[in-house]
Amino acid sequence: MDNILAGDPGATSADVVAENLERLKALFPEAFSEGKVDFEVLKHLLGGAVEDREEKYGLNWHGKRQARQLALTPSTGTLRPCPEESIDWDTTQNLMIEGDNLEVLKLLQKSYAGKVKLIYIDPPYNRNSDVIYMDDYSNGIKHYQMVTGQIDSDGRRLTSTTESSGRFHTKWLNMMMPRLHLARALLRKDGTIFISIDDIEVAHVRLVLDEIFGAENFIAELIWEGANKNDARQIGVCHEYVVVYAKNRERVERDWGLEKEGAASVLREVNRLKSVHGTNYDAASEDLAGWFRANKSKPVFGIRRFKHIDARGAYKEDDPTAKGGRKFELRNPKNGRTIPLRQNRGWSFDQESFNRMVEEGRITFVSETSIMVRRYLHETDKITPPSVFYQPARSASERLNQLMGAPVFDYPKDESIIEKFVQMATGNDPHAIIIDFFAGSGTTGHAVMLQNVSSSGKRRYILVQLPEPLAPNNRDQRAAADFCIRSANPLNIAELTKERLRRAASKVKAKNPGDTGDVGFRVFKLDTSNIRSWDPSPDDLNVELLGSVDHIRPDRSEQDILYEVLLKLGLDLCVPIETRNLAGKSVHAVGAGTLIVCLDEAIARADAGPLALGIADWSDELAPAGETTVVFRDSAFADDVAKTNLAAILEQRGLGNVRSL
Ligand SMILES: C[S@@+](CC[C@H](N)C(=O)[O-])C[C@H]1O[C@@H](n2cnc3c(N)ncnc32)[C@H](O)[C@@H]1O
Repeated sequence: MDNILAGDPGATSADVVAENLERLKALFPEAFSEGKVDFEVLKHLLGGAVEDREEKYGLNWHGKRQARQLALTPSTGTLRPCPEESIDWDTTQNLMIEGDNLEVLKLLQKSYAGKVKLIYIDPPYNRNSDVIYMDDYSNGIKHYQMVTGQIDSDGRRLTSTTESSGRFHTKWLNMMMPRLHLARALLRKDGTIFISIDDIEVAHVRLVLDEIFGAENFIAELIWEGANKNDARQIGVCHEYVVVYAKNRERVERDWGLEKEGAASVLREVNRLKSVHGTNYDAASEDLAGWFRANKSKPVFGIRRFKHIDARGAYKEDDPTAKGGRKFELRNPKNGRTIPLRQNRGWSFDQESFNRMVEEGRITFVSETSIMVRRYLHETDKITPPSVFYQPARSASERLNQLMGAPVFDYPKDESIIEKFVQMATGNDPHAIIIDFFAGSGTTGHAVMLQNVSSSGKRRYILVQLPEPLAPNNRDQRAAADFCIRSANPLNIAELTKERLRRAASKVKAKNPGDTGDVGFRVFKLDTSNIRSWDPSPDDLNVELLGSVDHIRPDRSEQDILYEVLLKLGLDLCVPIETRNLAGKSVHAVGAGTLIVCLDEAIARADAGPLALGIADWSDELAPAGETTVVFRDSAFADDVAKTNLAAILEQRGLGNVRSL
């Protein structure tokens, strides 16, 4: 039975360097000599494609190499489950993770690398007074606990950058670089990343993204017109950007579409009217026109020309000619007569297509000499997303204030715009995973819920938010801090994220009573690993020596350990878990038997046989597709005999992959 210790591959987050080496080795085995890369051979194999001039194209700054390295260092932390703060823990597929996103992104690699369809982030823009998380290279988790006030801080707090503070862009870039590397690794081959940013860092982030994603994977730089700044000096800048990159542009769907606003509601109404009026299309059309008039203030009114109904659906009558169209003598296929063409116009189809359209009933003969073509809403309900759009920032703030009952969060993004990004990038994939690791008030989670409701989708979100402390005596944070005090919650931003998600979920349910979609979320919190690591310079050597007898930290629950095993073995944090009592011990089968875990604290000699047989029988019953891993607590075994007996029985029954913690 192998023992998993802190530092073992099975106990840490993904080892990105080792994985990179494996990939390189698979491609160029001859470039490896005694386990190390031979760069001379590699250069030779790559021919003229190697850039070895000193002055290379690209952006450089102090700390860049170290920042890249930071993404490669595995995390020693874990994510602890928090069902009491979650909604629909047993059924939901969404995650809200409280913690520093660098550590969390590392921890998510084993379970989610290559699985995420869309990443949307809205990082701090590096405006004066924006808080920038300064990473610590020696102990990321301890540093996180200090920064968030979970353990005594020696004064190192979250710092805000100012242009005069020096190394202004450097600090921001050092923070972003490792996170973007890890973000890319999470994306599927056809995945994309959308990043909100403004003038301060847009040029830099584009160069960094060119480097990490490849300039060939740039998709667009969107301009989001929001509000005018009154404090502007020369030019009133009233826009910001959303830069969009693909992991591999070749693999992304060729056509992204955005629904015409209101189209889904019109199509629903048409179906309703058809069920009321059957094939009496005149009556259905009359009611549809009345429905448009009754909805003058809604987005549907913008597409009121689709007010006719026939067997195919809702349509508008359109001019079949265009400037620059084809000039020829169009004949009515029914009687051979020519249909006159207006001056300076041409037909928008050829004779053959026209004949087919007449056959299909897509042409209305207004008179012998005048025709109209029927354009159906369901065939034209998508538009190509434009690169420039307008959505005032103020309306999102007002809606959020109303939802929360107080102005708790400055500058939230507009959930209706993020919903559009979700629609564009995951339109063909109703089961897509969407991540936002600078979650703020949780707008992306809200947007995913909205998009799922309108498309009956099952998209999942993963949000990550730092429990950034809120100070009641700071004027800018007072409303948010008071909000946390009123609800008796800790004073930090992650509490706002969770509460927004709860309120948004209730609102979505209330507005769509028939909808059975998933609006829940599981809360996890970043913490030190449950598996204790040997501290080389402990505060108290006696405590450290006694404590290291059991590798598991004493203050951790069975559930904590169970989810760490899941995470470190690369399973989804929402995978179904079944628990049974076998031989008096609680045993969990994860993912229909891929993993079986028993974390009981005492397994006597007499227990070993019945427990092993119970597990083997259950595994036979579950019959998982791949190999099963079975995990026990190392300190639980009364002695080596108990341990060896149990392992031997499991091995005999085909369960050879047995580990202990
Ligand atoms: C600009 S806000 C995002 C706002 C969000 N889009 C919304 O609509 O509410 C950026 C957020 O990232 C969070 N943040 C900053 N550094 C972080 C880190 N290292 N890990 C996780 N979250 C972080 C900040 O606390 C802040 O709430």
